[in-house]
Amino acid sequence: MPSEQRAVGVVGAGYVGLTTAACLARLGHDVICADIDESKVDKLGRAEVPIAEPGLPALVREGLDSSRLRFTTELGALARCDVVLLCLPTPMSEQGDADLGAVDAALGELAPVLARGCVLATKSTVPVGTTLRLRQRLSGNWGRADVRVVSNPEFLREGHAVTDFLHPDRIVLGTDDDAAGEAVAALYENLDAPVVRTGFASAELAKYASNGFLALKLSYVNELAELCERLGADIGDVGRVMGMDGRIGPAFLAPGPGWGGSCLPKDTEALVRTSGTAGLDFRLLREATLTNLRQQDRVLAKVRRAVGGRLAGARIGVLGLTFKAGTDDLRHSPALAVADRLAREGAILTAYDPKVEPPGPAGLDAQVVDDPCLVAKDAEVILVLTEWPEFRQLDWPRLATLSTHATVVDTRNLLDADALARAGLRHTGTGAG
Ligand code: UGA
Repeated sequence: MPSEQRAVGVVGAGYVGLTTAACLARLGHDVICADIDESKVDKLGRAEVPIAEPGLPALVREGLDSSRLRFTTELGALARCDVVLLCLPTPMSEQGDADLGAVDAALGELAPVLARGCVLATKSTVPVGTTLRLRQRLSGNWGRADVRVVSNPEFLREGHAVTDFLHPDRIVLGTDDDAAGEAVAALYENLDAPVVRTGFASAELAKYASNGFLALKLSYVNELAELCERLGADIGDVGRVMGMDGRIGPAFLAPGPGWGGSCLPKDTEALVRTSGTAGLDFRLLREATLTNLRQQDRVLAKVRRAVGGRLAGARIGVLGLTFKAGTDDLRHSPALAVADRLAREGAILTAYDPKVEPPGPAGLDAQVVDDPCLVAKDAEVILVLTEWPEFRQLDWPRLATLSTHATVVDTRNLLDADALARAGLRHTGTGAG
C-alpha cells in the first residue's frame, strides 16, 4: 500500500491509459479512468480488455474486484481527483506534426471540473511546450491558476506495457513546481526506479529523443546488415560484439523489415518538425527515416530475386503482419507495408499472423488464413516479416512439402537455417554474406 492513497484520474483508455490506470490501482491508488468511447467503457466495466497486452486483463479484473479501478465516459467524474493523468493519443497530422485535438478537447471539459489545487500531468507523448501551454490556457481561459501541471512521459512498449510500468528504467517528472512533482512522484513511490526531475521542455523532449534514438539505432543496424551481406560478414556476430560494449548495449540490434508501430515513426517525424521549427535541420533523423523506407525496398528486392525476377503472378506466403511480435497492432507496420507493395506488384499473397483474423485488414490484397501451414501451399517464397516465436516451431518439413520447396526469406533472422535446410528449404536471412 502507498503511504498515502491518492485519488487518480486517467483520461484515455488506450494502451497507455489503461495500463497506467490498472497498474496504479494495483499499487493501491483509487483510480477512475475516463474514455469517450462508450462501448469500450462498457466492456472495460466487465473486465473485457480490447487490446492484446499481456497481464492487463488480470490487472483490470483485480482493480474492478477491489473497487480501486472504475471506468467512466464522464470527465466530470474526475472532479475529486488529486492528480489527473492525460493519456490521450497525439497522432501524426497530415503535415507530420502531433495532432493535439484530443488533448485540447479534454482540457476544455476538465478545466471547469478539476478539484482545487489538482495536479494535471501529461503522460502520453506531447510536443515540447505543450504542458506549459496547458497551464497558460487553464489560467488564461478558465481562471484555473490553481491547477498545477507536470510533464510525466511514459516509456511503455506495446506488448510489454504492464512489465514496463511496474519495472521502469526511470520515472521522469518535468515541472517548475516541486510540490506538484512530489504529488506525481507519490503515485510511483512503491516502484523501484530512479526519479529524474527536470524542467518541462527537457521532460517532453527526452521522450522524443529516446524514441528518435531507438529509430536511429535500428536504421544503423539495418544499413549495417546490408553492408554485412556485401562484405561477407554476419550482422548477428557484428551486433553481438557491439552489444557487449556497455556504451552501446545489446537491445535494439536485431535487423528486420524496418521499424514501425504507432510511436517510433510518428515521434521521429514530429522531432524532425520540432527541430525545423526551432531552425535546426535534423538531417541525421531525416536520414534514419529514409533508410527505414529503403529497408522495405531491400526486402522486395530479395523476394524478387528469389522468384527469378518477376513478382507479377508469383505465389508468396507471408508470415506475420503486425509491426512486431506480442501485439495485434497493425499501425505503421512495415510487415503490412511490404505485403501491400508485393500485392501491388501483382504477387499472389497468402498471409498468416497469430493476432490477425481472416479476412485481415481492409485494403490488403491477400488471402489471410488462420492456419500458418496454409501460407506454404504452392508458395515460391515464404516471407517472414514479424518475429513471432511460434514461427520457429512450425512443422517446416510439412511446409516444405506443401510449398514444393520454396525459398524462405527471413527478414528477422528468426528461423534456424539448418533445420530449414534439413526440411529441404532454402533460407535467405538478413545481414549475412
Ligand atoms: C516504443 C518505445 O520502445 C517505447 O519505449 C515507447 O514508450 C513507445 O514506443 C511509445 O512511444 O509509446 P513500441 O512502439 O511498442 O515502443 O515498439 P518497439 O518495441 O520500440 O519497436 C519499434 C519497432 O522497432 C518495431 O517495428 C520493431 O519490430 C522494431 N525493432 C525493434 C527491430 O526491428 N529490431 C529490434 O531489435 C527492436
